[in-house]
Amino acid sequence: MLSGLSKLAQPLLLMMPPEQAHEMTLKALEQGIYPRGSGAIDPRLAVNAFGLEFPNPVGIAPGFDKDARVPDAILGIGSGYAEIGTITPLPQVGNPQPRVFRLIQDRAVINRLGFNNGGHDAAYGRLSARARRGIVGVNIGANKDSPDRTADYITGIGRFAGVADYFTVNISSPNTPGLRDLQAPAALDELLGRVMEARERFIAGGSPRVPVLVKIAPDIAEADIEPVIGGMLAHNIDGIIVGNTTLSRHGIKDAATGREAGGLSGTPLFQRSTVMLAKVAQVTGGRVPLIGVGGISSGETALAKIEAGASLLQLYTCLIYEGVGLIGRINEELATAVTAAGAKNLSELVGRRRDHWARQPVEV
Ligand SMILES: Cc1cc2nc3c(=O)[nH]c(=O)nc-3n(C[C@H](O)[C@H](O)[C@H](O)COP(=O)(O)O)c2cc1C
Repeated sequence: MLSGLSKLAQPLLLMMPPEQAHEMTLKALEQGIYPRGSGAIDPRLAVNAFGLEFPNPVGIAPGFDKDARVPDAILGIGSGYAEIGTITPLPQVGNPQPRVFRLIQDRAVINRLGFNNGGHDAAYGRLSARARRGIVGVNIGANKDSPDRTADYITGIGRFAGVADYFTVNISSPNTPGLRDLQAPAALDELLGRVMEARERFIAGGSPRVPVLVKIAPDIAEADIEPVIGGMLAHNIDGIIVGNTTLSRHGIKDAATGREAGGLSGTPLFQRSTVMLAKVAQVTGGRVPLIGVGGISSGETALAKIEAGASLLQLYTCLIYEGVGLIGRINEELATAVTAAGAKNLSELVGRRRDHWARQPVEV
């Protein structure tokens, strides 16, 4: 019944301004009003990555629960894991509203939120109060006005080490001026050097060893992929997330809304982010697990990400249009794909069309 209700709620939510609809969704989840799903839909979908056992590969991407208000509800609707954030050390209001725009025809969103969040203390309070059940990653960022952005990431690692199952170092949001510059090889080398050294120090001080992943933009120039990814591997990071929203507006129908500044997500991001994922997979050659994100809207698109090289998946924008039932449908279709391939489990399908995807064109 509740899943029927959520189907009814979706068109109503789409009639409201995006941020208001989002707040209503979070409030409903906080009050336990959501359809229950089983995270462990089919044992063949379980994924072992970064030393963690994920019951299924479908996670909810950061941005949905920026302040760790509803990680257990996210797990309760049947996701394999949740990633909360981006959290910055100090609370931040973000950019002036309006700053989230739906492109309904395109099944897309443009956002320029600018890391609006309640800061480390508020999120830490919520995470430390919950029972640790299910996998919850913490996505950390830097304050817009921080005098030392690298120090902000290190503070995040120290603060959340006791409550995070993994960390994502987010250097790919287009909405904090200059943040993406941290992806340049020299800046990245210095950032990851300090972050990984800090993690070792925290471990030596008694903190648990929490895997560190890096989330990149899908807009990295072809020639930069190898040095950027090579630099990450040199620092022994645990995984890479491909990727964040894009600045490209290629292929969108709603040209008027498309002129809004910010990062584009949803269906038009699928091709670009999947090709980037495959190219990253070629460089990593299986040395670290990859998380595929960008425009997942169905079992078919989820399977494509797996075949391009992702061990795990995340989605956000298409949930806005399809509702949370999409998570269960994707898992069912992935299980069907495992059967159709005659494979023992989903992990056997990872990267089997990597080179095909890496050859596909990406329009600017
Ligand atoms: C409204 C909105 C807010 C987002 N906020 C964040 C964020 O705070 N941190 C982050 O790493 N990614 C953020 N993202 C990016 C998503 O996590 C994801 O990488 C991107 O939307 C592509 O996936 P999708 O096409 O399934 O939405 C945000 C996306 C949207 C639409």
